[in-house]
Amino acid sequence: KILILDFGSQVTQLIARRVREAHVYCEIHPNDVSDDFVRQFAPKGIILSGSHASTYEDHQLRAPQAVWDLGVPVLGICYGMFTMAVQQGGQVEASDHREFGYAEVRAHGHTKLLQGIEDFSTAEGHGMLKVWMSHGDKVTALPPGFKLMASTPSCPIAGMADEARGYYAVQFHPEVTHTLQGRALLERFVLTIAGARPDWVMKDHIAEAVARIREQVGDEEVILGLSGGVDSSVAAALIHRAIGDQLTCVFVDHGLLRLNEGDMVMDMFVGQLQAKVIRVDASELFLGKLAGVSDPEAKRKIIGAEFVTVFKQEAAKLVGTGVNADGSGRAAKGAKWLAQGTIYPDVIESGGAKTKKAVTIKSHHNVGGLPEQLGLKLLEPLRDLFKDEVRELGVALGLPHEMVYRHPFPGPGLGVRILGEVKKEYADLLRRADAIFIEELRNWKDEATGKSWYDLTSQAFTVFLPVKSVGVMGDGRTYDYVVALRAVQTSDFMTADWAELPYGLLKKVSGRIINEVRGINRVTYDVSSKPPATIEWE
Ligand code: XMP
Repeated sequence: KILILDFGSQVTQLIARRVREAHVYCEIHPNDVSDDFVRQFAPKGIILSGSHASTYEDHQLRAPQAVWDLGVPVLGICYGMFTMAVQQGGQVEASDHREFGYAEVRAHGHTKLLQGIEDFSTAEGHGMLKVWMSHGDKVTALPPGFKLMASTPSCPIAGMADEARGYYAVQFHPEVTHTLQGRALLERFVLTIAGARPDWVMKDHIAEAVARIREQVGDEEVILGLSGGVDSSVAAALIHRAIGDQLTCVFVDHGLLRLNEGDMVMDMFVGQLQAKVIRVDASELFLGKLAGVSDPEAKRKIIGAEFVTVFKQEAAKLVGTGVNADGSGRAAKGAKWLAQGTIYPDVIESGGAKTKKAVTIKSHHNVGGLPEQLGLKLLEPLRDLFKDEVRELGVALGLPHEMVYRHPFPGPGLGVRILGEVKKEYADLLRRADAIFIEELRNWKDEATGKSWYDLTSQAFTVFLPVKSVGVMGDGRTYDYVVALRAVQTSDFMTADWAELPYGLLKKVSGRIINEVRGINRVTYDVSSKPPATIEWE
């Protein structure tokens, strides 16, 4: 396994991602872990990350001495390179002006790290790399035993190596995709130079995670807020695999879920996994609170706050009091843990390596502060995983592929897909129309790729417009509601293009909705991209 020491860069998690893509197990820990920790971790190789701008000025952060005493290969990236230079006796010139940008780097000589790795070569035959680089601070003198490995005109020492000891460092960032050969470079380091085994597979991960959960929890009880979303579902399945009945899931149904979604969650977890799930039907409560409210942010706030209140009430019953709300008659010891499906991207660095990592949870199950309020310890078994790893894990745990690869669904649910005031009548119409749209997307295969249009889009849904338009059906005039279909393609949800769905598919969906959902007589397709529109309508 590989140890990544984090000096507080925003992109440290990408290093882990690239290493995992090479199927090598790795963990990220703060740069100031103890020497004992480093020794006990027994890494095959160590990667020192970059840092955020402010630490560059004084170059105070250091890697533990054990990093240099272990005799394993070390790769320094950006700030990690400075640390390596300083700790190995080289010289660094600080600068308070830094820039992150594209650069072309000449890869010198034939180091084991860069051999054969290049984007193009110059007329003189020099291998060149296209990279993203931090400009500003510089290593100005190589430490003893090091040779030059890379350079640019403005940064004469952009890479250095002491190959006898397996020490390599680069000023640029191999972990970002803008550095085209970054993945190859990191793979070369972990597999060839550090000799880590590419054996990180899901099966091992499950066994490891199960053992860790058992060790952490012992015979204590755990509560988990199940939302039906991918993360909380996978967390529930994993924890259930580890501790069975010591886990109780609380599923707050706010009445703004998709068609049959609540029943499907129950079927899956109670019917198939035989987990304990308390379903709280709070739809009337939520609709009551939402009555007369049409401002999108106000609706979001109400749904979020109500969600926490209801969850807290249910959780409180399971804590300490010994009340066993599932009616099983089994004596409950009172829960001691709150489990959350926090995944790696949710774990946001705050204030760099010195500060403990802060956790942000999506607004909907924003139960931040809840563990303290309920006097519970926090259990987050997915903390180290990226979304695609969480999905893989879910499938390996036996969750249906369809559930695990679902499009994202916002916490406030249909609450933000019914424009303006939310009413039960609207939600019922929307649910039926949306189910038809999603069903047809799943059925309609693209000829070229053989994939369904559900898989070819990143997010697709129906929006309810509380306006009426005139139509004609049979011999009669209709005066009914309008829905908009929305389907987008995006990789990061920050920008998105509307999907060019086949006309045949749109035609079928519109025909079915208008014929099958009495109350809707007009279907439109949203052809706005983000920006300037957003993906959701509210
Ligand atoms: P927008 O509409 O901002 O959406 O382009 C980007 C992504 O975020 C989701 N989204 C939400 N998720 N609570 C959530 O949990 C919310 O209030 C919320 N609003 C938008 C949206 O579905 C899309 O995937």
